[in-house]
Amino acid sequence: MSYDYKIERGEKFVVIRGDFFEIMDEIRDMLRRKVGAVITDPPYGRAQYSDKFNKYLIPLSDDKRMKFVEFVSDVLTRRSYAFVCTNCFEYAKYVVDFEKRGFNLYGDVVMVYGEGAPKKYRLRDAHEHLLIFARELRKDVDTNSFKNVYYTIRARGINRCHPVEFKNAPQEKIGVTVKPVMLFREIIRTFTQRNELIVDMFMGSASIGESALLEGRRYLGIEIRDYVYEFALQRLRRVERDMKEQKVIFM
Ligand SMILES: C[S@@+](CC[C@H](N)C(=O)[O-])C[C@H]1O[C@@H](n2cnc3c(N)ncnc32)[C@H](O)[C@@H]1O
Repeated sequence: MSYDYKIERGEKFVVIRGDFFEIMDEIRDMLRRKVGAVITDPPYGRAQYSDKFNKYLIPLSDDKRMKFVEFVSDVLTRRSYAFVCTNCFEYAKYVVDFEKRGFNLYGDVVMVYGEGAPKKYRLRDAHEHLLIFARELRKDVDTNSFKNVYYTIRARGINRCHPVEFKNAPQEKIGVTVKPVMLFREIIRTFTQRNELIVDMFMGSASIGESALLEGRRYLGIEIRDYVYEFALQRLRRVERDMKEQKVIFM
């Protein structure tokens, strides 16, 4: 590979420091029809409440979004699901692009006042969606309780997002919208089977990775920013260590 990338492995995870769009063609064939779920949180910008957001958080261009959806379509099995976090501005674009590839919008988990959302602003800015796309429904998992879901999650109690602190972060607007591990554990438990591979090409701090490992799934994460990648790697190592020492509850 001629790209600038780095790869590290744990027992049940692989993380890559690099640009997903640069490496996607190299990993596509390895993953083709093998992925149990894509669960990811692509950058979707926060221009609606600040003009100072950093370049890694600008929403994907139309071209990149299409490439991302095409990749997801190629690597998922016929029946596995895609989960994409986004805001109300990008929502319909994902629906259109996934429909072009034969998926339907199956569900929508709405996270209100998540970690990335400023609380003083109106609801439009203070919520995000987790869109669930499916081509065919899986018969080996029971997703009844999740049909056409509409959840509101407040950043308190069990679904609280734990803010993260990055070492060596430059003085830019850091902007990683950390996701609630309890919610993602529930989703992973409901929609996938043990040992299946979860792919997250916009890894951030690896909340989805932690959720996947704690539910006994395998995880592949990709992150473009060095210090965010380092944080995620240490986090996943710690989770595997804690699981070995039985310090955490896992499936
Ligand atoms: C919204 S955040 C993900 C937050 C994550 N769910 C968490 O819990 O921390 C999106 C992440 O994707 C990363 N990113 C942006 N463009 C990327 C690319 N082309 N390839 C890989 N990662 C990228 C950003 O650096 C950012 O950390």
